[in-house]
Amino acid sequence: MRALIRTMLTAMIVGVALVAATAPARAEDGYDLWLRYRPLAARDAADLARRAGSIERRGDTPTLRAAADEVRRGISGLSNRPVAQSVQGGIVLAPASDPAVAALHLPIAPLGDDGYLVRSVTLEGRSVTLITGKTDRAVLYGSFALLRHLQTGGSLDRITLTSTPRVKLRVLDHWDNLDGVVERGYAGQSLWDWWTLPDFHDPRYTDYARANASIGINGTVLNNVNAKADSLTAPYIAKAAALADVFRPYGIKVYLSARFSAPIELGGLKTADPLDPHVAAWWKAKTDEIYRAIPDFGGFLVKANSEGQPGPRDYHRSHADGANMLAAALAPHHGIVMWRAFVYAETDPEDRAKQAYTEFKPLDGTFASNVIVQVKNGAIDFQPREPFHPLFGAMPKTPLMIEFQITKEYLGFATHLAYLGPLFAETLASETKQRPGETVAEIVDGAAEGHGLTGMAGVANIGRDRDWAGSTFNQANWYAFGRMAWDPTLGAAPVAREWAAMTFAPSPQVVDPVVAMMMGSREAVVDYMTPLGLAHVMATGHHYGPSPWVADLKRPEWNPVYYHRADTAGIGFDRTVTGSNGIAQYAPALAHLLADSATTPERALLWFHHVPWTYRMRSGRTLWAEMIDRYDAGVGYVAGMRRDWDTLRPSIDAERWAKTATFLTVQEREARWWRDASLAYWMSVNGLTLPTGTRPPAHDLAWYKAQRVANAPGNPQ
Ligand code: GCU
Repeated sequence: MRALIRTMLTAMIVGVALVAATAPARAEDGYDLWLRYRPLAARDAADLARRAGSIERRGDTPTLRAAADEVRRGISGLSNRPVAQSVQGGIVLAPASDPAVAALHLPIAPLGDDGYLVRSVTLEGRSVTLITGKTDRAVLYGSFALLRHLQTGGSLDRITLTSTPRVKLRVLDHWDNLDGVVERGYAGQSLWDWWTLPDFHDPRYTDYARANASIGINGTVLNNVNAKADSLTAPYIAKAAALADVFRPYGIKVYLSARFSAPIELGGLKTADPLDPHVAAWWKAKTDEIYRAIPDFGGFLVKANSEGQPGPRDYHRSHADGANMLAAALAPHHGIVMWRAFVYAETDPEDRAKQAYTEFKPLDGTFASNVIVQVKNGAIDFQPREPFHPLFGAMPKTPLMIEFQITKEYLGFATHLAYLGPLFAETLASETKQRPGETVAEIVDGAAEGHGLTGMAGVANIGRDRDWAGSTFNQANWYAFGRMAWDPTLGAAPVAREWAAMTFAPSPQVVDPVVAMMMGSREAVVDYMTPLGLAHVMATGHHYGPSPWVADLKRPEWNPVYYHRADTAGIGFDRTVTGSNGIAQYAPALAHLLADSATTPERALLWFHHVPWTYRMRSGRTLWAEMIDRYDAGVGYVAGMRRDWDTLRPSIDAERWAKTATFLTVQEREARWWRDASLAYWMSVNGLTLPTGTRPPAHDLAWYKAQRVANAPGNPQ
């Protein structure tokens, strides 16, 4: 009997050993994002273990605990062995107020509240890696910076890492509805399980906070800008407070989108007129109630008088009247108002791209000091490419924050691979020409106009999908947004390199091809959807797929034909003096360049000019030939990404590799659909033929017009 048991045990042990020896690398489903902390190569892991064998935390606040937990998690993962929490650490987390740290006289004062310093120092006679900063939050950011450094090939040897955020509010806007549906969300249901809140704190909330803190995001607007008043009722305030409690240790403040008519809907008032004292009193009481539940509540985000939302214009008051009334309620609590400038009205015959400027520019200097006006990156609506919004640089007396869309409403949802780093960077690097050398980034970070209140908002692409963002590569857009909100001058490529190293592996054999794919991917989408300055030619409502022919929607500016204005003679929206004169909203030096098609960047040609199909491009080709070339380049790029991804198969875990490979197949098919449908339609308008050698569309125009995308996600209808 004993022998039998021994034999069985031996068999089991051998079996276990065999499984261990032959098991493939740990399966990955993307949940860990860029915080994977997989073991380094054996020598590096051993070196790390030697230098960081224990972690010491000086101080016992929730934020310092979160930071130390993360460092321990990261180091034990990367070094592939457990790390002790000790009083004599190889890595020391300590705010600058710690007496031993203070005695080192490190240059911490210029780092501000959030800036960190990670440095090899001798502390009380021991060589350690010190993570410090003025506040616990800075220590948290420093901890993540150290882990990023180690995950991207850095070591602890004579280390100095230091950085201070250039932008104050680094905020994710969730367009999450209270019923769990995310407007323009392509990664499943809302992360917030309103039903089980405030009692149940899903562990995902903590992982969400970790991920955000790792890239410096410090605010989250929980609910959709198309807000329901219900989110301001006591039960929902309690739910928001529960989330705020989870996020607080990670330096993340909670904000709410406020429905302007809430005093009527919840308070039973007859009006929401911002100058009515009862309305102001209602908001003051409501704000006080929120602060009782959430003492560090960030404030309100407001979409007013836009796409059917209520607002101060309903009472013939200005946007400043509305914003300032809310600002007064928030001011005693140090809260702020993020007031959106995304306004246009179907009753207004003016070029849609001009309406926000027309409405807001005259209000410059009239907003309260705790109001920041939130302006989309472009003047239409998160297109694959838009020139920067003319309000940047045009309201010097008002803090403006930029709003990007991380979720890819107009760029192929979660399925198409489009790295948005180049889109963010392109907008931020745009020169306003209002003052010499001034860029949009300098408006956003306050350098140009000296504002202390600065911000960058990103419409989140996060949902309850296991991989958070619907695809691995969409995670890069969340990542890039956070990193560029911290520092708008970071380039898209360095950020992509960090992300690729952490998300896949730090070796150049992986990082180089992945980054190469990413860097051209957004341009490819521009090429196969909206080349040379075209915009808004997507299908109705859900915005998925091509529909440049649509001309029958109620509001003129909802129709693609409104934007491209194609006719037998030419194509493009004339925004010069012979057209809407939208160019006059830019600084004179820029308007001067844009007035002439020859000095307008070709990538924005059809945004500003209506030009003949025979227009001569810089390449020497006609516009028509150039458009065909762009469509083909876009499709070709996607085919190239598929090939590149195939070669990466041995280096990427199976599950994440396969999902991306499938999505790239879909993207290639749909890029062709975009190209073919667009060409078929343009030919029906211009009567031109395709140059010899050009592949004709696979179907006739009627076939493309008949295509329907049913039940597309994220569509509010
Ligand atoms: C776009 C989008 C809407 C959204 C709006 C906004 O128009 O399609 O779903 O509500 O932007 O930014 O408010």
